[in-house]
Amino acid sequence: MSEPAKILVIFGTRPEAIKLFPVVAALRADPRFTPVVCVSAQHRGMLDQVLEIAGLVPDYDLDLMKPDQTLDGLTAALLTGLGQVMDKVQPARVMVQGDTATAMAGALAAYYRKLPVDHVEAGLRSGNIYHPWPEEVNRKVIGTIAALHFAPTEVSAAALKAENVDPAQIHVTGNSVIDALHWVSARIAANPAMAGGLDALKERFAGKRIIGVTSHRRENFGEGMQQIAEAIRRIAARPDVAVIFPVHLNPNVRKVMNAELAGLDNVALIEPLDYPHFAHLLGLAEIMLTDSGGVQEEAPALGKPVLVMRETTERPEGVTAGTARLVGTRADTIVTEIFNLLDDKAAYEQMARAHNPFGDGQTARRIVELLAHEIGQQA
Ligand code: UD1
Ligand code: UDP
Repeated sequence: MSEPAKILVIFGTRPEAIKLFPVVAALRADPRFTPVVCVSAQHRGMLDQVLEIAGLVPDYDLDLMKPDQTLDGLTAALLTGLGQVMDKVQPARVMVQGDTATAMAGALAAYYRKLPVDHVEAGLRSGNIYHPWPEEVNRKVIGTIAALHFAPTEVSAAALKAENVDPAQIHVTGNSVIDALHWVSARIAANPAMAGGLDALKERFAGKRIIGVTSHRRENFGEGMQQIAEAIRRIAARPDVAVIFPVHLNPNVRKVMNAELAGLDNVALIEPLDYPHFAHLLGLAEIMLTDSGGVQEEAPALGKPVLVMRETTERPEGVTAGTARLVGTRADTIVTEIFNLLDDKAAYEQMARAHNPFGDGQTARRIVELLAHEIGQQA
């Protein structure tokens, strides 16, 4: 066998870390590869929560996060920093995931060095460059550059084909978020204390129907966040309901939610949860209300109805399967949809069916085999 291929795996935010730690583990376990992990640390605390749980120590940490960072400042720093790491590591290939600034800049810096780029979670498209913003353009840039496109579903593979990507470069692998979810669920089952930090809240809200909330989308800042806060205030006015809301560390989210919701009896505004605790919250919640991408994938896998506070989604699979519904960011609509699910058992039952359109938990293994094939190293 020839020398193991050096794969530079780049990520920077919480969801990228969640979706890439299973792939890094699979690469590490395979003698055909030497993965080198570089984190931009576009996120800091929320990234470190995942690194710790996954036991992943990066080889390079650019520590780039700045409070309330701008897209241009962040992107400039990413291009320079990631380029320097590539020059030092001299990898055979570069791997990025999803559609963050880190992923886009990583792909671009690799392209400037004519390094092949492998894109995990390729082909998600909403068709609107401002929803989600700036992710729709980030992933199109990566899609233009990538050598291999690991599409989670047939829907995302079809979107790439419609953009004239060579079908031979597209592989439907599932989404590695399901690998991560399986991994964390098994860990919690073996050691429930891992998610014990929610016990006090469970006691406080005993007998109430839990709604889990997350929100962070840039295109929802301002009026959208105000409307979301107003909706939560009205939902939590019901005595039978409790809202558990781990608040994203972005100051544009925190300012609004703290100002509008702090101190309400039926609302717990809490710090971002580590992955085992968040997986546990997914289990406790009767309904998830979110603008997150990852939660739209995890909730259907667990049969939790998910109301998506966006105008469009690049993940139509959950909507098609019936577990997800787009509700936008108008308070009136959000409240109506939540009350409908709370009060109409049949409507709830119709949404609360487990579907796994996003994968079977074997995505990381598939990606590693496809990569081995690509570099000419068969098992
Ligand atoms: C980023 C991604 C988005 C992804 C989201 C996942 C871009 C442009 N955006 O959005 O695609 O869906 O992550 O959560 O790449 N902050 C902290 N600590 C942290 C993380 C963030 O304090 O651990 C604060 C900082 O003030 C930071 C701000 O949040 O400047 C924004 O972080 P940034 O990564 O730029 O954007 P997100 O909105 O988190
Ligand atoms: N998540 C977490 N703790 C939290 C909220 C979310 O671990 O307090 C996880 C969640 O399970 C999912 C991912 O973070 O896997 C989603 O991240 P986020 O919503 O920040 O980003 P997006 O998926 O929208 O890019």
